[in-house]
This record gives sequence, structure tokens and C-alpha cells, in this order.
Amino acid sequence: MTRPVEPAMHGGMTGLEAGDTAGNYLLFAQVEAAVRSPDYETLARAVAEDQVVLAFLDRLPSAKRQPNLLFASARAVLGEPATPATLHDLVAQRPALLRHVMASRRTQTNEAARCAVLLPALALLDGPLALLEVGAAAGLTLFPDVYSYDYEGRFLAGIDGEAPVLQCRAIGPVPIPSRLPDVVWRAGIDLQPLDVTDDDDVAWLSCLVWPGEADRSERLEQAVAAVRKRPPTIHRGDLLDDLHQVSAEVPPGATLVVYHSAVLAYVSEEKRRAFASAVSELGALWLSNEGDGVLNCIGVGLRAPGSFLLVRDGHEVLAKTDPHGTWIEWLDEPRGSPPDQPSPRSGQAEVVTSGRMMRPPLTPTSRTGP
Ligand SMILES: C[S@@+](CC[C@H](N)C(=O)[O-])C[C@H]1O[C@@H](n2cnc3c(N)ncnc32)[C@H](O)[C@@H]1O
Repeated sequence: MTRPVEPAMHGGMTGLEAGDTAGNYLLFAQVEAAVRSPDYETLARAVAEDQVVLAFLDRLPSAKRQPNLLFASARAVLGEPATPATLHDLVAQRPALLRHVMASRRTQTNEAARCAVLLPALALLDGPLALLEVGAAAGLTLFPDVYSYDYEGRFLAGIDGEAPVLQCRAIGPVPIPSRLPDVVWRAGIDLQPLDVTDDDDVAWLSCLVWPGEADRSERLEQAVAAVRKRPPTIHRGDLLDDLHQVSAEVPPGATLVVYHSAVLAYVSEEKRRAFASAVSELGALWLSNEGDGVLNCIGVGLRAPGSFLLVRDGHEVLAKTDPHGTWIEWLDEPRGSPPDQPSPRSGQAEVVTSGRMMRPPLTPTSRTGP
């Protein structure tokens, strides 16, 4: 079996991997599904041995062979999660319908709980903040100030008391904020924005939740209800090509924060490097919450198999995070420094590199147990 070039943290495959389809489904079963969804582990193992399903997948463009996309599309057609038998029958009897759903949809799992791992980094910044999320999907991760948070008993109330309370385990010196950031502007960019007020789009989001993850289904429902009250602006476009144009709308005096989670694995390394340069040219503050290895191509050396890394400005690793936002492990010292600059010591203010933003010290405001 050939290992994918990317760690399997985005529904098993992103379409950028090398390797055979059966091998990638097996890897998905072992690495991702086994710990989250026994049903999908069984399903992925069955796909790896089902020649009818494998032949169907191999006729699709590689970016469309991802387990998440296949399983969510089958669920959308069947009205319930597929089993090995129902998936086989669906592929054998109605391949055109399944192919149509897979062609028209993307893997757009939108997890509000990721706000719980972004929030400590956001709250360290001088506001008011202008949030620009690339790969925003339906925009559920554009509202870190709307949700409430429970960091193992440390509670922080969001501005909408009906929005979900995001539970997050804090490990290490997580700077749990005592107040929410002041967000004065927010917008997203996505290749295929989902409309949170559209029932079909919301149904697609729920198809992307895996069987056995009842807490995620409930959180999705609550987050959708909260965001429907304040539908965000999400521009249809590309994270690189449209970055400058959208950021031109940021009001004067606001600190522009460009951020993303579970997105950059879907673009080539060449594009990741170009994106890093574009954000830097903008003078924006950049927060990346992506799978282990995704920013290796721009020199982030720290590895954290099975986790995401929260990285500031493309070099400063702040924390390891759960891919779905249920825990954050803040590093004792931020790792990494920009080229030709000494590593900032914990507690020291970092160099101000842009007239548009002040970079606050990384002094933890609280320490939580492991
Ligand atoms: C897995 S979802 C993550 C959504 C959200 N960031 C979150 O953490 O919940 C990835 C999103 O990135 C979008 N995406 C992928 N490539 C993109 C690109 N080149 N430009 C803009 N959006 C892109 C997809 O359409 C999808 O909505």
C-alpha cells in the first residue's frame, strides 16, 4: 500500500494523494474511522475489497474519490448512512445518480467547535478584529464571538445565549480568554459556499457528520440555528485568487485576521506557498489550523500525527489541536521563527511587522492542567 502524501485527516483523502484507492480507503479505516466511527471503519474496509465500488471510484477524478465525499453522497441519496451492502447496491444500480451528487458536492464538513481552538489565539490580538476565513463552507467557524465556551469549567459566554456551548479540553498553558474578541467585520471565501438558510445545503452538512457522532449532529443543528439569525457574507472564489479583493473591504482601523481550518490540505503545496506570500504581502495576521504536515512546505517542522497544528503567521506553532476542536494543547514555548529573526521567547512581545496590527505578547493568562 502506498501512503498518501498528506496525513489522512480530511476524510481520508483530499484528492492530492498518491497511492491506490483501495489502500487509501484502508488507511482511512485504520487511521481516522477506527477512532471515531466503527460504522465507517467497517464501510471503508468493505470498499477496499469491493471491486464494483473501486472501479466506480477509479473512473472519477482523483479529487472526488475521498471517503468522506463518497459516504456523505451515498447518505444523501439513501437518506441514511450506507452499509457495505447498500453502498454496493447503490453503485451497481444507480451509479449515475451517485456520480452526480459526488460531482456537484464537495467535502465541506463545517465544525463550529473549531472556534474553541481558534479563540485563544484570536483573543490575544488587539481589536477590533476583521475576520476573513478562507474555505469557510457555510460560515459556522466565522462566529467565535457568538458561541459560548466551556474549557473544563472555565466558562465564557458568547453574544448569543441560544448558540451552542463549545466544550473544549485545555491542556498546557492555554491563554483562555476572559472576554470575547471584538469582531467588527467578517467574511468568508469558498470555492462553493454553502447557504446556511438553504435546507438542501444544511442537509448536506449533516450528511458529512459520521454515524456515531451524535454530539456533532446536535452541535451542527444548534450552530446552524445561531448562524441563520446572522447569515454571513461568503464570497464564491478561490483562497488565493480572491484574497486581495475581499480583504479590500475591511474597515479602516480593524486588525485583519486571515484564517482557515481543514482547508489547505485541499490545495497543492505550490498554492500553499503562494498563499503564505499573499497573506504576508497583505500585512494580515494569519492563523492556520491544519493537519499535521500541511505547512511543512513553508517550513513548519513540528510534527503532530493525528492532530492539527495552530500556527500563527506561517511559522509560530502555538498549539496542537483536535481536528474537531474538542481539545487544545498550548505549547510551553511557541515553536518556530521567521527567517532571519530570533525565536520570540514566551512572554515577550513579538516584533511589530506591519503598521496594521499590533502583535501582543504570548504570556499565558491562565494555566490549566493536562
Ligand atoms: C473541510 S471544509 C472546512 C470548513 C471550515 N473551515 C471548518 O473548519 O469547519 C473545507 C472547505 O474549503 C473549501 N475550499 C477548498 N479549496 C478551496 C480553495 N482553493 N479556495 C476556497 N475554498 C476552498 C471547500 O469548498 C470547503 O468548504
